[in-house]
Amino acid sequence: MKKIGILTSGGDCSGMNAAIRAATRTALGHGVQVLGFRKGYAGLLKGDFLEMQTKDVAGILHRGGTFLQSARSEEFRTVLGREKAVRHLEEFGVEGLIVIGGDGSLNGALALHRMGVPVIGIPASIDNDIPFTDMALGVDTALNNIIYAVDCIKDTASSHDRAFVIEVMGRNSGYLASMAAIATGAEYAIVPEVECDVADLCNQLRHRWEEGRSNAIIILAEGAGRAQNIADNIKDAIGFETRVTVLGHYQRGGAPSVFDRLLGSRFGHAAVENLLAGQMGKMVGLCCNAIVPTLLETVVVSEKRQQDELHEMSLILGI
Ligand code: F6P
Repeated sequence: MKKIGILTSGGDCSGMNAAIRAATRTALGHGVQVLGFRKGYAGLLKGDFLEMQTKDVAGILHRGGTFLQSARSEEFRTVLGREKAVRHLEEFGVEGLIVIGGDGSLNGALALHRMGVPVIGIPASIDNDIPFTDMALGVDTALNNIIYAVDCIKDTASSHDRAFVIEVMGRNSGYLASMAAIATGAEYAIVPEVECDVADLCNQLRHRWEEGRSNAIIILAEGAGRAQNIADNIKDAIGFETRVTVLGHYQRGGAPSVFDRLLGSRFGHAAVENLLAGQMGKMVGLCCNAIVPTLLETVVVSEKRQQDELHEMSLILGI
């Protein structure tokens, strides 16, 4: 292999830059040229790329987001779009591709692999909903962002005897909500995977109010409802005055944590080593602290099962 491509696709997250940097430097170290496609699959379709040298990835390790930028490309979802992508890779002389992104991006990577492109995927999504990796890139930084915000909110909540419903990201996954609830000592987490018992929630908060506690924190995953609706449903039953905070995209940015810098570096390095060793159609994942490649076709049809246990634990510890 003489030339490879790298792209970041879907929602950005902290740690993507570490993966780009590690993949680029590992490839260059092997004498392999690297093209960085801008804005994910859209850049591949437009032929918008940067031929990357060591200096191009300097000074990005500690930055959130992705310096190659990211996008969700509608054209790439079509058969014609994918055929164009394969043609472009051939034209540019790219013999292997590294795709850094979440489930949609990894599905796209699998489609390219099935069309004959040697591809390695790197799991990156703050939702932590990608199977065959204990952690995806960006999760740890997002959790750190969330707990910083929740700790701040708790201070003001305690000063006013208030309950806060704090909405965090997670379209289909309650991982961030449950883990943040455990890490901040929140009273309740509401997640998409488990139906919320509103009567039980109100009873617990009422009990807390009657005990004379000064605050209550409920962490809601966005996929389980809107924070304002939950607040409206509970406000007359719990004693506490109720407020709402939606953390939104704040969660996805910021300097990557040590964990995400190391994970991104390990993933980026392993992705290139695997590609050069002839592995293809795989995703590198973190399994029991080892980097383990798994077939993309297994990854995309599997489900990550972790939520029931975590959710139950968050509720027990929140009482
Ligand atoms: O998939 C990652 C994620 O951050 C989800 O948690 C969230 O629902 C979504 O992306 C937001 O996407 P966008 O940035 O396109 O609004």
